Amino acid sequence: MVGALSLVISIFLSATALASGDVGRGKAVYENHCQYCHGKDGAGDGPAAMYLNPPPRDFTLGIYKWKTTPFDEITPSDDDFARMIKGWPSHNEVPGWDGLNDTSMPGWSDVLGDDDIKDVVAYLKNLSGLEAPEKPPVDMRVKVKPSKESVERGRKIFADVCSECHGDEGRGDGRKKLKDDWGARTWPRDLTKPWTFRAGSAPVDIYARVTVGIPGTQMPSFADPQSKKALSDEARWDVANYAASLDAPYKKPGEGAVIKAVKVEGALPDAPGAEWNKAAFESFYLAPQIIGGERLFTPTLNSVSVKALFNDTEIAFLVEWDDPTESVPGDESAMGLSVKEVFMDKAAVEFPASPWQAGERPYFGMGSDARPVDIWLWQNDGAVRSIRARGTASVEDGPDKASAKGAYEKGAWRVVFKGALKREWKDGASEGIFVPVAFGLWDGSNGDKGAKHTMTGWNYLVLNGGGGVSPYIWAAGAAVAVFILEMLWLRGARRKDR
Ligand code: HEC
Ligand code: HEC
Repeated sequence: MVGALSLVISIFLSATALASGDVGRGKAVYENHCQYCHGKDGAGDGPAAMYLNPPPRDFTLGIYKWKTTPFDEITPSDDDFARMIKGWPSHNEVPGWDGLNDTSMPGWSDVLGDDDIKDVVAYLKNLSGLEAPEKPPVDMRVKVKPSKESVERGRKIFADVCSECHGDEGRGDGRKKLKDDWGARTWPRDLTKPWTFRAGSAPVDIYARVTVGIPGTQMPSFADPQSKKALSDEARWDVANYAASLDAPYKKPGEGAVIKAVKVEGALPDAPGAEWNKAAFESFYLAPQIIGGERLFTPTLNSVSVKALFNDTEIAFLVEWDDPTESVPGDESAMGLSVKEVFMDKAAVEFPASPWQAGERPYFGMGSDARPVDIWLWQNDGAVRSIRARGTASVEDGPDKASAKGAYEKGAWRVVFKGALKREWKDGASEGIFVPVAFGLWDGSNGDKGAKHTMTGWNYLVLNGGGGVSPYIWAAGAAVAVFILEMLWLRGARRKDR
């Protein structure tokens, strides 16, 4: 009898805990796992916050971006909260690294149970005095399938109401300088890279964003009847279907990608064009330079795509990347969009300096005394430099005769680099020599300058198709991995002192 009663009581207690979460227990979860980024009192000012872009949420305002309750309902649903904390499927294909894609917010489903999540949600709501939502989430049943007709209608709507921020082709190169409610500079998402979407990239997810808006940012709700830009429910589905169709899969960095240079007869092209169709793009993550010198914590560039052609004497690279701004120092419209002073946009290609033995990789950050690197550097005033570096402190003019030409169009830079083939790349080319190659980029409107820029780790270039790919796979994207490992380490350290 007593047993049955205590069972009933414990069921009752756990039911109330499930329904509402326990603020006290939630505080403990928060202090164990969340405060390092979100701050001791939830104000978004934890010790890691200054290094993170976007910054961790300030919970004291009660504004949440990735919710599905209507635009005029401030409180997210419990499911919304659970999704924000558990995260959407992984972006970097690193096991366990779910979360809000392309941000430092990790997914917690492997660390926190459902009860922990309810408790921490109760604690978060309490920080801003949020009440339970009065309105249910918006209806997310698919109403318009992504047919050709729907996508076509969506294209026109997009040009009317989205392109001012997201750019004509959706690359995030809008014509507006945007700040969010927390005072941070924000950039509209590059819709051609769905792997960077925080809250899902299916049409239904985009429909939810367009219907609800992204609270705290300038992305409005298009369901608000008060708005001049209000769209019908069907129109919001059409524009979501169109936005989802902008996915450019070749831009998603692959694992262990190797640039396979394709041989052509005659002169190499020095501008983008049909000849390049012979080669395929490989894409790589860019990581901000945070190792030495002036470091970058707020990168605007996240990936670069590269292909290569060669003939008997020369090699050409087509380097393409999305950049929200064309950075022309002194130009008024560039200054209007810039974070502060406008510097030039730049791109660099780096190789081991000759002579070089296959299998030996110099230090990717500018080489060293024993293993120098050669760098071809282009900047958007047209100047090109060839550099030999033996570490950051020892930089001189290099022996390579490189040329480069770039053009900016609707949010994308395309730069063609050309230079002499180095002898040791060709010897034994029938088997394929894996030549280390790395890329560096600068977004001058973001204050990138000197050591402050984004870069890839060593990747590999192979002439003539190459043989096996495996030995060097691990090296691709090493810089990104370092950053991710640091974050996992942070999380692991927190986990241990639970
Ligand atoms: C490594 C840093 C880091 C840690 C640790 C972290 N967060 Fe976050 N969190 C972020 C960042 C950055 C954002 C902002 C993402 C954005 O703007 O889309 C964020 C956003 C959020 C949001 C807001 C989502 C929305 O829709 O607005 C919630 C809720 C949240 N975090 C909960 C938590 C909880 C709970 C924990 C601990 C269990 C936690 N976070 C730990 C970095 C972190
Ligand atoms: C006034 C500017 C503005 C307009 C207009 C605008 N957006 Fe956005 N959009 C933004 C900003 C800023 C972000 C990034 C918000 C953030 O992450 O903080 C964004 C993000 C997004 C995202 C990414 C969501 C995610 O999960 O990461 C999608 C998808 C999107 N917008 C679609 C659209 C579509 C479709 C339209 C037109 C119907 C539109 N936007 C109109 C500014 C705008």
